Amino acid sequence: MDRLEHVVPEAISRTLPLLKDPPDEPDTTRGYLDLLGPVNREPPGPIQAAWESTAGAAVYDTAQRLTRKVFLSLRPPLSVLRMPDGGLTLDVGSGPGDITAELGRAAGPRGLALGADISESMLERAVRDHGAPNVGFVRADATRLPFHDGTFAAVTCLAVLQLVPRPLDVVAELVRVLAPGGRLAIMVPSPRGRLATRVGKLITDSPAGLVLLGAEELADGLHDAGADTVHTRQAAFVLHALATKRA
Ligand SMILES: C[S@@+](CC[C@H](N)C(=O)[O-])C[C@H]1O[C@@H](n2cnc3c(N)ncnc32)[C@H](O)[C@@H]1O
Repeated sequence: MDRLEHVVPEAISRTLPLLKDPPDEPDTTRGYLDLLGPVNREPPGPIQAAWESTAGAAVYDTAQRLTRKVFLSLRPPLSVLRMPDGGLTLDVGSGPGDITAELGRAAGPRGLALGADISESMLERAVRDHGAPNVGFVRADATRLPFHDGTFAAVTCLAVLQLVPRPLDVVAELVRVLAPGGRLAIMVPSPRGRLATRVGKLITDSPAGLVLLGAEELADGLHDAGADTVHTRQAAFVLHALATKRA
């Protein structure tokens, strides 16, 4: 009887040379490159635990499609990234992969857009809905990105830092993998105004496991990590940061 060979997706074959420590036998059985395998870890809070469940990923996917139609400030800032046609881009904490797919469209067929996420449920949806020869997904931890320094012309990290206990560790990784002169876009929920700040404090003091960064702290973290130009902009309840890495 013929043995069915598992075919490594084209986008993953193109990803392997970008890795610092490529695996001898890459696990791509679910359509994404799994660099974490079975991990014995507790998610840092109930919200991240939800994003790692099948039901939570489905709810998030539907909600983000609807809210991005209504709230313009939640849309990805693709035009400001000035992505080169044929370039390499990385979407960290890619969730259901809609933003990664947009990056892929901007990068064109010769380019490559990669989404990295820790949640198997999110990655399964992302591969199912958006996998393509120039759009691939990797299971990795944003605090230890598996890529060489200076790999990507553009990096995004949208609605992720609030879920990580030490978000500035992720910021350092985002800048590390960005090519000199490359652009990085970050979006985080961030309260503004007296009432919102009080609500924010209640949230960060609660067991929700959320960390809310302010504009100054985020800008300082980006500068410390090697970003040159940093612009921050508050729009409604979210904070956007755009940074360029020192050439
Ligand atoms: C709120 S969703 C945002 C998804 C997508 N960026 C978007 O804007 O629609 C946050 C995503 O970050 C991922 N995430 C959280 N902590 C992570 C970590 N340490 N490493 C990689 N991904 C992480 C979650 O699994 C989830 O898919």
